[in-house]
Amino acid sequence: MQDKDGWSGRFAEPVAELVKRYTASVGFDHKLALFDIQGSLAHAQMLAACNIIAAQDLDDIKRGLAQIENEIIAGEFAWSPDFEDVHLNIEKRLTALVGDAGKRLHTGRSRNDQVATDVRLYLRHAIDDLLGLIKLLQIALLDLAEPHTNTIMPGYTHLQVAQPISFAHHLMAYFEMLKRDAERLRDCRKRVNRLPLGSAALAGTSYPVKREMAAELLGFDGVCENSLDAVSDRDFAIEFTACAALIMTHLSRFSEELILWMNPRFGFIGIADRFCTGSSIMPQKKNPDVPELVRGKTGRVNGHLVALLTLMKGQPLAYNKDNQEDKEPLFDTVETLTQTLRIYADMIAGIKVNPEAMRSAALQGYATATDLADYLVKKGLPFRDAHEAVAQAVRFAEKRSCELSGISIAELQQFSKLIVEDVYQVLSLEGSLASRNHIGGTAPNQVEAAIARARNGLS
Ligand code: ARG
Repeated sequence: MQDKDGWSGRFAEPVAELVKRYTASVGFDHKLALFDIQGSLAHAQMLAACNIIAAQDLDDIKRGLAQIENEIIAGEFAWSPDFEDVHLNIEKRLTALVGDAGKRLHTGRSRNDQVATDVRLYLRHAIDDLLGLIKLLQIALLDLAEPHTNTIMPGYTHLQVAQPISFAHHLMAYFEMLKRDAERLRDCRKRVNRLPLGSAALAGTSYPVKREMAAELLGFDGVCENSLDAVSDRDFAIEFTACAALIMTHLSRFSEELILWMNPRFGFIGIADRFCTGSSIMPQKKNPDVPELVRGKTGRVNGHLVALLTLMKGQPLAYNKDNQEDKEPLFDTVETLTQTLRIYADMIAGIKVNPEAMRSAALQGYATATDLADYLVKKGLPFRDAHEAVAQAVRFAEKRSCELSGISIAELQQFSKLIVEDVYQVLSLEGSLASRNHIGGTAPNQVEAAIARARNGLS
């Protein structure tokens, strides 16, 4: 008698309902359906080419899978938890449609190498999409930065005013982070893009398969070299999630800054209304919900990384059912990151900049104190003495409630006789920026060049 689920032939009693529900994954792994079909087609083509199944079987399988694909895309496919997972659901339907050929599809294959293949196909596709989205965000950053190489804001350390910088320079820091994020994803893709099929349950298969053929049909760079490793390890998914967690972490930092900058105490930027919400009780409120949620969702993606690492850590070789738990964290990571990048690019494009607020903040925090110290050093004072002289000048200015540039020459000379008229050039914000004139520095011409290099690198 043919068993209903494809594997219970030797069982003396049916699986308990509760267990069926507990072990079924079709509720979430149906997301892999189109990749499962893609993998099955390549497997069947390989089987036919190696004379393991007949040409007629291949034709029937192709016809059946094409119909199933249409049903899935049209939302008409009836997923059933009775058939546990996406693989068995599709195979059952195929057999119903084309008969014995459907039952032959699983020759030389196990769900263990099948699911590993599906997840890799899914992830490769996701990575390619994500790389496109990162690029869109990078372009949005460049577009925002370009007109602001001469817009001066305070640069912070410890969130205290440190030195004046150009707003474009600040934005380009995030461009660099995203550039590394994309590099990491491209590198991760190389390890994702290897074919498990042919490994079967764990030891390989006794059929005369041509794994390289299936690999080529599926666009993989090659086959996984060890069958045990191929069916069991999910390091590629963990690695991807680590890349995703870093991207989210970068965007979380950026979000924190956007939230600060749009606070009226800063007033550096405005975020377009369509990215904010109001309060149901406080009519004056405009809340930066999107950046706040990005910050919050970073916790969720970091959690998925820990979940996947923990999932793997105690598993003996080879495949264990634990691995079924890889999917939800992985899918949610991809979805969260995809939505976040998409919304972010749009939000950055809608930012309104307030250069006056940035400038007046930069003027308030003695941001050019280091420039004054460097000025004294260039006139021969040892740096530590210069540091002390400027510290006293800052204390003096604080008492007076003025800026360093508001102190007269005669008064400045109390702190060092080396100070003369030309000091006001270095005390100016523009002078401070222009003096950091080297690659990676905040001088406007350097930032302009950095933006140009960045644009070239993207095309
Ligand atoms: N649904 C399973 C998973 O996601 C497919 C592989 C099942 N293999 C097995 N030997 N039970 O991992």
